[in-house]
Amino acid sequence: MKWLHKDLLDVTQLSKSEAMSLFDTAAHFQEINQRPVKKVPTLKGRSVVLFFAEPSTRTKVSFDVAAKRLSADSFSLSKSMSSLTKGETLKDTVLTLQAMAPDCIVLRHWSSGASKFIADRLDCAVINAGDGRHAHPTQALLDSFTMFQEWGDLTGKTVLILGDIKHSRVARSNVILLNKLGVNVRMCAPRTLLPHTVRSWPCEVYSDLSEAVKGVNAVMCLRLQLERQKDGLLPNLREYAQTFGLSQRHIDLADKDVRIMHPGPMNRGVEISSDLADSAQSLVLDQVANGVSMRMALLFLYMTRKGMEEE
Ligand code: CP
Repeated sequence: MKWLHKDLLDVTQLSKSEAMSLFDTAAHFQEINQRPVKKVPTLKGRSVVLFFAEPSTRTKVSFDVAAKRLSADSFSLSKSMSSLTKGETLKDTVLTLQAMAPDCIVLRHWSSGASKFIADRLDCAVINAGDGRHAHPTQALLDSFTMFQEWGDLTGKTVLILGDIKHSRVARSNVILLNKLGVNVRMCAPRTLLPHTVRSWPCEVYSDLSEAVKGVNAVMCLRLQLERQKDGLLPNLREYAQTFGLSQRHIDLADKDVRIMHPGPMNRGVEISSDLADSAQSLVLDQVANGVSMRMALLFLYMTRKGMEEE
């Protein structure tokens, strides 16, 4: 199989069979991640630039770990250490990076559409590591991969996405990908934290968490993105936590084998109780571990445009 895409800008670009192929490739690398020596020569001699113009722990470190485990050379650049702070434009910055001949640029940027803007101007692969409120495709892929590892086929499962949907690129990418995979998606948030387009999204929308959670197979809590809220969308945090924070009384209404997910970073005691975050039903750290395997799969496919069987 040849991987047909130059760039990963959003999950809208992927078919269900391409997503399944990514799961298979990630599962292959997951086995490598369980070995005592977690390194293979697959991408030896290739290089990737990790350009993170917004803060990140999980995405940045897992891409770096993924690149190193595949023997690629990885180079990191942050906004504060780049010449963006001296007024250089994004276009000049990425053309400068491309002149050093990397095979891939992984970009996180505060502006929706930044990844497409650079992908249209660069010959190397571009992977979107989160752009504004628009998309976070690698997070959605690792989330679905985590569910796939738990359940196998996701068809007919019901997943509730809970919290600050308005500001969440994770919610947007997840609803699209889960839909492609045959999952029934529910959303629950206060009206002020729903995007005005949500009625056209392929999901059911709830305002009562006790109703929304009934019978679901997984709850994906979202971080309340206080840094993106400038217009007093919530009366106060305590009221939000009491009404929309996930706690045991909600979990008692879900499927008995319900799984709890969160892309991180978590506001414990706000969108999720600390007990649930650390509970046996929580997949939060599995998501992080699976993020390394999924990003190894993505770097491999986008940097070689080959399938596993050609290796
Ligand atoms: N989930 C996620 O994108 O986390 P980071 O911001 O830590 O990368």
